[in-house]
Amino acid sequence: MTIAIRQLQKHFVGEVSGLDLRKPLTESEAREVEAAMDTYAVLVFHDQDINDEQQMAFALNFGQREDARGGTVTKAKDYRLDSGLNDVSNLGKDGKPLPKDSRTHLFNLGNCLWHSDSSFRPIPAKFSLLSARVVNPKGGNTEFADMRAAYDALDDETKAEIDDLVCEHSLMYSRGSLGFTEYTDDEKAMFKPVLQRLVRTHPVHRRKSLYLSSHAGKIVSMSVPEGRLLLRDLNEHATNAEFVYVHKWKLHDLVMWDNRQTMHRVRRYDQSQPRDMRRATVAGTEPTVQQQAAE
Ligand code: OGA
Ligand code: MN
Repeated sequence: MTIAIRQLQKHFVGEVSGLDLRKPLTESEAREVEAAMDTYAVLVFHDQDINDEQQMAFALNFGQREDARGGTVTKAKDYRLDSGLNDVSNLGKDGKPLPKDSRTHLFNLGNCLWHSDSSFRPIPAKFSLLSARVVNPKGGNTEFADMRAAYDALDDETKAEIDDLVCEHSLMYSRGSLGFTEYTDDEKAMFKPVLQRLVRTHPVHRRKSLYLSSHAGKIVSMSVPEGRLLLRDLNEHATNAEFVYVHKWKLHDLVMWDNRQTMHRVRRYDQSQPRDMRRATVAGTEPTVQQQAAE
């Protein structure tokens, strides 16, 4: 079967048919999907009833697995999945929705804020591949924003102002904006801010994109309020409906996105009902800017 890609109304999203993700890809199929990722930035695959191992095997066509440590407050002994996938569900180890006051649940609500995966790591993620194993009955759409188009649409003065700016990113900034502010000393060390360029250039097609994320809480060389106001303005611009694709999940959809050129968020959903989403994350290969020694 040959791969076919249909461009959706939002031009940065392609709907892929002609692939069975339960089976290994040929080298040429893998290169075709990767090239499509560079062109589109988000790819949607329907009817992929895959298991964790098949999902991970598909992801490894595009790079190495990102080590998930350091991205959560959940203790390793409480992990529901041991397959190397990131658990993006609302479920506990017992398979039931987490209690409303559970720390893991409260922390995970941060996924409702616009972000780029792992922008809080010195080397942030390349691709994320999210598989819908149980779809929530109410809400839970995932939205994607095209950060190349958002950059292109800025005026020249703004582009010149921001092109060389560097931001501090930390999970404590995104969670802090929701009022989640209590951390152990170990967590504070783990979530220490890292530096990221505000504008990054794609390694293949060299287009620039805005590298925003709710994890960004400071612009180096600016006061905190001044930096945050600029970030707010840019976020408001970049998440304008014209740049945003809304994905309404169907069971066994798999959506794959490039974190270097998109942001995403999940919308609120019924937390009393299960939503089982599992993510394979492909590691990035280099930092966006040299990290400085911590002050
Ligand atoms: C993610 C994420 C959104 C969702 O997997 O990185 O932010 O729809 N998930 O659960
Ligand atoms: Mn995410």
